[in-house]
Amino acid sequence: MLPFLLSLLLLTGAAAGVQGHDDAAARRTMEEFAGFPASDDGEGGRASPLRVDSESLQRQIDELASFSDSPAPSVTRVLYSDKDVQARRYIKGIMKQLGLSVREDAVGNIFGRWVGSEAELGAVATGSHVDAIPFSGKYDGVVGVLGALEAISVLQRSGFQPKRSLEVIMFTSEEPTRFGISCLGSRLMAGSEELVRSLKRTVDNHNVSFVDAADSAGYKIHPDDLHNGMGVMLEQC
Ligand SMILES: *[C@@H]1O[C@H](CO)[C@@H](O)[C@H](O)[C@H]1NC(C)=O
Repeated sequence: MLPFLLSLLLLTGAAAGVQGHDDAAARRTMEEFAGFPASDDGEGGRASPLRVDSESLQRQIDELASFSDSPAPSVTRVLYSDKDVQARRYIKGIMKQLGLSVREDAVGNIFGRWVGSEAELGAVATGSHVDAIPFSGKYDGVVGVLGALEAISVLQRSGFQPKRSLEVIMFTSEEPTRFGISCLGSRLMAGSEELVRSLKRTVDNHNVSFVDAADSAGYKIHPDDLHNGMGVMLEQC
């Protein structure tokens, strides 16, 4: 069982080229969900202390996109590859800059927690992934991680103090590229025994086992770790 409330916000291709007449439809949809008018300055016509730093967020998205095994503007970042490891380091760096408590579990799900004033309460979490299928774009998954970190930053800048801890999770391997298994990290966290069984015999195209691939990325997985539930924190970063 997870020690926190898990609310997943999977933003898939959220920022993909919406243009022309689609703008009005997108805006209507946004307003329906939000319940207040959308506006380009992010204030909805009302004074708000909550301002997203869209320039900084875009810069982070572009920097993260540079960790790629294919040329820009495409992104290729396969599980446990060097570029994936660099991207992980980058995400942990931002988490630390924000003063979050950063932990990683056995397979490299990464957790950045803004500890609330009542830390014993269940945390509220959101997140997504930064692995990228070959020749993908730079937004898929990334917006769900960097966007969530910017949301925390906005709240911090506004002077907000959370009661419950707020957590951003970067899940390991949402994409099936390397081992043919998608949502690998989140399903392990959810305790999928079937997945544990298949991981023990899964190899990639180069006959590299899951455990050896994880090892090459700095994650030393003992077979028991996979059974004990991946919510177990092995490392304080
Ligand atoms: C894959 O690796 C295993 C374990 O090292 C080995 O026994 C097997 O022969 C290899 N298979 C191929 C196709 O290379």
